[in-house]
Amino acid sequence: MGVIAATLGSAVGLGNVWRFPAEAQANGGAAFLLLYIACVIILGVPMMLVEMTLGRHGRSDVVGVFKKLEPGKPWWGVGALAILASLLITGFYMVVEGWTAEYLWNSITGALYEGTGESVAQTDAVLKARMGEYINSDFSPLIFTLVVFMINVGILIGGVQKGIERVSNILMPMFFVVLAILCCMTLSLDGAGEGLRWFLSPDFSLITWDTVVNALGQTFFSLSIGMGCIVTYASYYPDNTRLTGTAVIVAMMSLLVALMVGCVIFPSVTHFGLTDHGLAGSTLVFRTLPNVFSMMPGTTFWSILFFTLLFVAALTSTVSMVEVTVAFMQERLKVSRAKAVVLTVVPMIVLGIFSSLSFGSLSDFTIAGKTFFDLLDFIATNLLLPLGGIILCIYVGWFAPKTMLREQLTNHGRTRLLLLNAIVFIIRYVAPLLIGVIMVFTFI
Ligand code: PHE
Repeated sequence: MGVIAATLGSAVGLGNVWRFPAEAQANGGAAFLLLYIACVIILGVPMMLVEMTLGRHGRSDVVGVFKKLEPGKPWWGVGALAILASLLITGFYMVVEGWTAEYLWNSITGALYEGTGESVAQTDAVLKARMGEYINSDFSPLIFTLVVFMINVGILIGGVQKGIERVSNILMPMFFVVLAILCCMTLSLDGAGEGLRWFLSPDFSLITWDTVVNALGQTFFSLSIGMGCIVTYASYYPDNTRLTGTAVIVAMMSLLVALMVGCVIFPSVTHFGLTDHGLAGSTLVFRTLPNVFSMMPGTTFWSILFFTLLFVAALTSTVSMVEVTVAFMQERLKVSRAKAVVLTVVPMIVLGIFSSLSFGSLSDFTIAGKTFFDLLDFIATNLLLPLGGIILCIYVGWFAPKTMLREQLTNHGRTRLLLLNAIVFIIRYVAPLLIGVIMVFTFI
C-alpha cells in the first residue's frame, strides 16, 4: 500500500487538475481526451514499468543505475537529461503550487470571496479581479512561490516524507470523494450538457500533430515519467511489490482524477457562460472553480477543503521531483542530505522567480512567442520527457541485461503475468517507434 500511495502521490497533482483541463481546452476537448487515454494505456503504463524495472533492479538514483549497470558507457547521460527535466519542471510547477497555497490562504481569510454573491456576472467579475491580484501580478504570487519552496525544503531536509505520505494516505481518498461530490453537483446544472458534450464527444477533425504531441506530453507529465522520478521511487520498492499492478492502478487513478476534473470544469464553464476564459488555461481552476464554490452552500468550507487537498496533492508531486536530484547528489556526490536539498533547490528557485514574474512584469518578455513559464513547460514536457522516455525504453528493451525486464515484472518468476509478452513487445517495438514518430513529426 505504501508503495502505491507514494507513487500515486507523485503522479496525481497539478498535472491532472490544473494542466489537464487547460490542455483539453486548448486542443479540442474530447479529441484530446481520447488521445490522452490512448497514450496512457499504450505508452504510459509500459513506460512506468520501464522505469520501475530500472529503479528496482539498479537500486540507485537515475544516474547511478546506469553507472552500475553500464559502467564506462555514456548511458548515464539520460540520467543527466532527467535531472535537467526535473529542474525545469520544478521551476514552473512550484509557481502553480504557490497559487494553490495563495488561494487556500485567501479562502481561509475570506479575502477570495469578499464582495461576491450579488449575481453570477458580478461574482465572476470579482473573481477575475482576484486572479489578477493573485496570479497576474508580481509581489504576492512570488511570495507564495518562495513560501512553497521553503515548505518543500523543510519536508525534504526534515526527512518527513513518511509523515507527508501518511497525511496523503488520508487526504488522497478524500480528494476523490470531494471531486465526486463536485461532479454530481456540476453535472446537474442547467447548461451542463453542452460543456459535457464538448468534453466527451470527439470531433476527429480537430486532431493534428500538435494535438498528438500535446497528449503525449500530458501523459508523461501526469504519470511523472521520463525524468527518473519513478526510477528513484522504485529504487526504494520492496522486492515483492507487483510492478504491473502498481503501474496500472496509478495510471487508472490518475486518469480518473483528470476525467472527474473535466466533468466538474467544462459543465461549469457552459453553465456560467464563462467562455471568455478561452485562452488562459489557469482560469479554469482559479476562476471557474471559485465560481462553482461561491454558488454552493458553505462556499468557504468547500473552497478551503478543495485547495487544501490540491495543495497536498501538489506537494507530494514536488517532493518526488526534487528527490530525483537530491538522491543523485547524496548517492553520487556523497553530500549530506541537507546540503543536497539546498544545492538542488537554489537553481529551481531562480527559475521559479522568473516563471512567477512572467505573469506580471515579465509577461511581455517572450521567446518564440512563449513566456518564460510556457517555455519551461514546453521544453520540459513536450521535448525532454518524451526524449528521456524513449531512451529509457530503448535501453531496457534492447541493451539492458536480457533477463532484467522479465525478472522484475514477474518478481523473479514468483508471480505469473499473463500479458508479459505483450508488455515486452510494446517496450521493445511499439513505444520507441510511436514516441519517435510523434517527435519527428512535431519537429517537421
Ligand atoms: N505527475 C505530476 C502531476 O501530475 C507532476 C510530475 C511530473 C511529478 C514529473 C513528478 C515528475 O502533477
